Amino acid sequence: MSAGRLVTVAVALGERGYDVLVGEGASDELASLLATRVPAARQAAVVTDESVAAAPWFARVDPGLPYDVHTVAPGERAKTVAGAEALCRAFARSGLTRHDVVVAVGGGVVTDLAGFAAASYHRGTAYCTVATSLLCQVDAGIGGKTGVDLPEGKNLMGAFWQPVGVLCDTALLESMPAREWASGRGEMAKYTFLGAPDLPDLALEEQVARCAALKAAMVGVDEREGGRRVLLNYGHTLAHALEAVALDADVDLRHGEAVAIGLVYAALLARRLGRIGDERVAFHREVVGRFGLSPCLPDDLAEVEKKELLSYMARDKKASHDLAFVLDGPRGVELVHGVAPEDALGALEELACT
Ligand SMILES: NC(=O)c1ccc[n+]([C@@H]2O[C@H](COP(=O)([O-])OP(=O)(O)OC[C@H]3O[C@@H](n4cnc5c(N)ncnc54)[C@H](O)[C@@H]3O)[C@@H](O)[C@H]2O)c1
Ligand SMILES: [Zn+2]
Repeated sequence: MSAGRLVTVAVALGERGYDVLVGEGASDELASLLATRVPAARQAAVVTDESVAAAPWFARVDPGLPYDVHTVAPGERAKTVAGAEALCRAFARSGLTRHDVVVAVGGGVVTDLAGFAAASYHRGTAYCTVATSLLCQVDAGIGGKTGVDLPEGKNLMGAFWQPVGVLCDTALLESMPAREWASGRGEMAKYTFLGAPDLPDLALEEQVARCAALKAAMVGVDEREGGRRVLLNYGHTLAHALEAVALDADVDLRHGEAVAIGLVYAALLARRLGRIGDERVAFHREVVGRFGLSPCLPDDLAEVEKKELLSYMARDKKASHDLAFVLDGPRGVELVHGVAPEDALGALEELACT
């Protein structure tokens, strides 16, 4: 459905349902969205990070209510319990009530953190998302998974708490740094294999709308990741392992860059298991290339022990005492349990770029 030049994608979750608006100028709808969805609100708490707050368009984001801006440091390190506590305390000091609204303006870090603070504040306060990174527009901003990291692991504390609306304004992406574009494109690339084979051929706005629709559909049938939503982890088993070793080795690897490698790895593994043929592997490589990403391990990680990556993959949350991967196959992409370690290692060897 189109409203003006904007595309509306519905997240069908009954009384917790909401719309995702995609297109240039979507963030101009913030005030009217809040007036419709949170009519009792008398003030808003805008949560953002320092880089987003410095973007030239930031001052134009208008909740249409009196508001305070709460700014956190940019990057994953802001996603902590202490960060959520600091936000809730600031909300309290500014007199925010449970009838008011939290507005997250930022990438996935800000929306995860602000969403979690909103889920906890007064046991649940409405929040709305203005997704400003490509990754957030195609994935993190939609679906109501909120949370923070613990020293023991990423996203270990959190809550399912759906926003009242998500605004994916593609005009806001103009200020995004190049590496963040790359990261968003890697996340986007996975949707090519989850129902949008023509994704690389589309214009940016159509790509975002298509990905948002696919994510919304998966959330609509599986809000709490008991089934289909797990497919959104396509390419992520190796990606998470690579991110973990990159963190240990102090190598700068963006999430979507790791997903791009993970997608090609998943294809190689699926071929080893007889699920797909050479052409499909070539298509994975082509798609990753068309999104401007590399399927090769970064030079700094080329020497990482394959067994170390394997042990990280065995700890993946999809695995229950075995190796489990989301893999392509004759019925499309599905969760496959019980993958033999030799096959997982063999596919890692094949991944090596010389
Ligand atoms: N909740 C979910 O379902 C879900 C799904 C996927 C990822 N995530 C989470 O999302 C996070 C990653 O999201 P991300 O990549 O958006 O990270 P991010 O929020 O850290 O944003 C990336 C960087 O880009 C900057 N930035 C964002 N938008 C900008 C803009 N328009 N102009 C200039 N700078 C801008 C930010 O300041 C930050 O430095 C991770 O913490 C991940 O766990 C959550
Ligand atoms: Zn991801």
